[in-house]
Amino acid sequence: MSSQIDHLLTETRRFAPSPEFAASAVGTAELYERAAADREGFWADQARELHWHKPFSQVLDWSNPPFAEWFADGELNVAYNCLDRHVEAGLGDRVALLWEGEPGDDRAVTYGELTDEVKRLANVLTELGIEQGDRVAIYMPMIPEAVAAMLAVARVGAVHSVVFGGFSADSLRTRIDDAGAKLVITADGGYRKGKVSPLKPAVDQALADRGAGPQLTVEHVIVVRRGGNDIEWNDERDLWWHDVVPAASPDHEAQAFPAENPLFILYTSGTTGKPKGILHTSGGYLTQAAFTNRVVHDLHAETDVYWCTADIGWVTGHSYVTYGPLANGATQVLYEGTPDTPHSGRSWEIIQKYGVTIYYTAPTAIRSFMKVGRQVPAQYDLSSIRLLGSVGEPINPEAWMWYRKVIGGKKAPIVDTWWQTETGAIMISALPGVTETKPGSAQVALPGISIDVVDEEGNRVGEGNGGLLVITEPWPSMLRGIWGDPDRFVETYWEKFQKQGYYFAGDGARLDDDGDIWLMGRVDDVMNVSGHRLSTTEIESALVAHESTAEAAVVGASDETTGQAVVAFVIIKQSYLDAHSPDGLATSLRQWVGEQIGPIARPRDVYIVGELPKTRSGKIMRRLLRDVAEGREVGDTTTLADTAVMSVISAQLK
Ligand code: WTA
Repeated sequence: MSSQIDHLLTETRRFAPSPEFAASAVGTAELYERAAADREGFWADQARELHWHKPFSQVLDWSNPPFAEWFADGELNVAYNCLDRHVEAGLGDRVALLWEGEPGDDRAVTYGELTDEVKRLANVLTELGIEQGDRVAIYMPMIPEAVAAMLAVARVGAVHSVVFGGFSADSLRTRIDDAGAKLVITADGGYRKGKVSPLKPAVDQALADRGAGPQLTVEHVIVVRRGGNDIEWNDERDLWWHDVVPAASPDHEAQAFPAENPLFILYTSGTTGKPKGILHTSGGYLTQAAFTNRVVHDLHAETDVYWCTADIGWVTGHSYVTYGPLANGATQVLYEGTPDTPHSGRSWEIIQKYGVTIYYTAPTAIRSFMKVGRQVPAQYDLSSIRLLGSVGEPINPEAWMWYRKVIGGKKAPIVDTWWQTETGAIMISALPGVTETKPGSAQVALPGISIDVVDEEGNRVGEGNGGLLVITEPWPSMLRGIWGDPDRFVETYWEKFQKQGYYFAGDGARLDDDGDIWLMGRVDDVMNVSGHRLSTTEIESALVAHESTAEAAVVGASDETTGQAVVAFVIIKQSYLDAHSPDGLATSLRQWVGEQIGPIARPRDVYIVGELPKTRSGKIMRRLLRDVAEGREVGDTTTLADTAVMSVISAQLK
C-alpha cells in the first residue's frame, strides 16, 4: 500500500481551467476569501439563496457540541424551495426531469407538473394521517414518482427513509422497524438489467410474519405501477398511486417548518453489524446541497443538462439528484436502469440524446467503461459535456486520465468530490473554474469547510505526511445524529478527537507538498465496493446466520473494477459436514449473503478454511487474510496465537 501511495504522490500532471471556463464559472476564488474572513457570514449568505418563510437571525449554535444547530430560528419548507418557488418565478414550463426508462420509454416532467404531483401526494399523505415528524419508507426504482415521493414527505414536514431498491426484504424490514415507519411508498417493480425486478413482494415480506418481533408500525403502502409484474394485494393496507394521487386535490399550501426539522434518515454501514440511521435536518442541509451543486458542478440552471447517475437509495441521490439540483431549478436526466443495458453504450447514448453537459458518476463505473474500451463511447457524440465529476471512492490517476480524454474530450474539468452520507454534501473538491486539478487527488476543502489531516493524537501532520482525515469546524449539512442512538453518534465520530472537538471521518489521507489532500481509503472495518459502503461485521453476521457456518471473517480485497471486493473466509460446522457434502457450499453462501443483505454484498469469493488467524485475545487478524485474498506474501504473523494457521490457510487455498 505505501509504495502505491508514494507512487501516487509523484503525480505531476496538472490541468488548469481554460480561460473561457474560468470566465463564466459559478465558483470563484473570492468565495474562499469571503469564507476565510467570516465563515458563518458566508454560510448565512448561501442560506439566503433559499426561500425562508421566516428568516433566521442566528447562524450556528454550537453551544452543545457535537449537537449543532444551523439557522435554528428560521423556518422554511424544503419542497417549496425545490418546486413552488420556481413555478412562482415563471419557470413552470422548465423541464425538471428528463426521465429515461431502462427499456427506452421516456418522459419529460416540468417543474409545473412535478409541483402538481407533489401537492396531490402531500394531500394523500395528510389524509393517511402522516404528520410532521412521522417516518415514511421509500423503496422505489429510479422513476419520477420516487423524487415526487421524497418531496411530498418533506413538504408535510415528515421524515423519509429511502431504502435502496437492491436491498433485500430483510434489510428493508430492519430499516422500517428502526425508524418506526408509518407508511411505505413503493412500486410493483422496476427495470434492472433487462428485466423487471420486483419490489412490492419484498415489502410484503418485510411487513408480514412479525411473530415475536417488533410490532408493525406501517399502516399503509402506496404502490406505483411500473413493472406490470403480478403482485399480491392487501385491500386494507395497499393503495395504488394511480388511484389516489390523481384523485387528490392539486391545491396544497406549503407550511413552514423549523430549519432543524428532520428531513431524512439514511441508513449506512458502520463498523458494527447494525446499520446506522444517519439523520439530516432541513435548512443547513438544503443550503449546502444547493450551494455545492452550483459551485462544484458549475451549474448554470438555465442552460445546463445535468446528469448524476446515483440511485436515490444513496446519499448522492439525495443531495445531487433530488435536493441540490431541484433547489437550483436545474434540468436533469433521471435514468432507471443499469449503464450496460441493453448495450454497453447506454450511458453515452443518453448523453447524446439529451445533450448532457454535466456528468457526475463513480470511479467503479469509469473503470468498467474503460474495460469495455474507448471504441464504445467513440460511437456517440459526447461534445455537449463540459464538466465531469467523480464520487464515492478514490479515483486512480489512470481512470482519471481516461475519463478526461475519452469522455471529456480533453477539455472538460474533472471534479473529484469527497464526502460521506454523514457530511450530507460535498466537503473536499476542486472548484472547476479556479483549481488546477491533479489526477487522483480530491485536493482542497470547499469554501466554508475546515479539513485537516492529523496523527492518532490529533496533531496536524503537515505537508508531505499521512494521517487521519478530520473536519475541524461544524458545517451546515452535517449529520445531526444517529436515529435513536445519540451515544453511538458521539462514540463513532467525536470521541477519538474529543479534546480537539474534531469530527473523525474514518478515512486515511495524505497531504502532498502543495497541501492537497489525497484520500487513502477507510481506516476501519468498512469496505468500499463499487462506491457502496459495506460493513465486514454485517456480512460476517449474515454468514454465521447460515446453518452451515461456524465462524466467518470478511475482508475487502482490492479489485480492478469494483475498487474493493468482498472476500469471505468461513469455517464450516462439523455437524453440517457430517450430514452434507461441502460441494457447492461456497456458491450457496454467496447467494445466501445476497438474499440476506442484497446483491451488492454478495462476496466475490468464499473460501472454506479449517481455522482463522486470531490474536491471543481472540481478535481476527483481517490484515493477514487480506494478504491472502490479494495474493500477497502473508505479513507479520508473530502476534497470532497459533503462528502456523496462516500457512495452513494458504495451503488450503492453493
Ligand atoms: C469514500 C458517498 C475518496 C470515503 C458520498 C468515504 C471517497 C465514503 C470519495 C463515504 C472520494 C467518497 N475520494 N474516497 N472522492 N468519496 N469516498 O457514505 O471512504 O456512501 O468515507 O458517501 O466513501 O461513503 P458514502
